[in-house]
Amino acid sequence: MISMKGIRKVYDTGKVRVEALKGLDLDLDAGEFVSIVGPSGSGKSTLMNICGCLDVPSDGEFILDGERVDTFDHNQLAEVRNRKIGFVFQNFNLLAYATAYENVELPLIFAGAPAKFRKERVTMLLARVGLGDRMDHKPTELSGGEMQRVAIARSMANNPKLLLADEPTGNLDSRSGKEIIDIFEELWKSGTTILMITHDPNIAKRTKRTILLKDGVIVHSLNGNGNG
Ligand SMILES: Nc1ncnc2c1ncn2[C@@H]1O[C@H](COP(=O)(O)OP(=O)(O)OP(=O)(O)O)[C@@H](O)[C@H]1O
Ligand SMILES: [Mg+2]
Repeated sequence: MISMKGIRKVYDTGKVRVEALKGLDLDLDAGEFVSIVGPSGSGKSTLMNICGCLDVPSDGEFILDGERVDTFDHNQLAEVRNRKIGFVFQNFNLLAYATAYENVELPLIFAGAPAKFRKERVTMLLARVGLGDRMDHKPTELSGGEMQRVAIARSMANNPKLLLADEPTGNLDSRSGKEIIDIFEELWKSGTTILMITHDPNIAKRTKRTILLKDGVIVHSLNGNGNG
């Protein structure tokens, strides 16, 4: 799914030059459920943004699902993103004035899906995350865990191959966090490849491989710590 070689990312703001990723190799197979851990500032979000085609590397080779994307321009990246990737963020990123239903429907509208298909898909996705009875609620009328479940349903709208999550449980209590990981596990079992950043060792433990990032490089990658 992901093959990275010698990935470097340099942020140059004029005053300061930060080398956030320092020549990193990463391989992720289709069907994996992987967590990324590491200290603040180690480059986790930078790596995830590149994986998600939200940003490009300064150097190195990146093949995503068979496509050499490190040379892609803005439009090509957006196209790959819409076709292949779902995103979940720590702060949910929901539209405040839209209902749960409308939030999940939006990417389907952008993708040009017909009305009947949208209705079926949104209803199915919200039911799948346990929010069949909250479809008309706006974000302010939902708990944090419920908001994140809406965000997950939205991320799955266009059936992405790869789900990327940056601290998806970071704003949640441990119980809601656990529910989110339960949903991720279900998605993974039904074939979605998942890459997730977390600070929480108990959350990382639930994935099948953990990658430790430190100072812009992968320090180690631990296999098979799964569910015990
Ligand atoms: N847009 C940017 N411009 C300049 N520097 C940046 C930018 N984004 C990140 N950095 C720098 O790159 C380094 C890595 O940042 P990154 O956000 O990837 O870390 P992180 O591991 O996700 O940290 P955290 O756990 O706090 O979210 C940091 O030193 C940060 O200050
Ligand atoms: Mg981060």
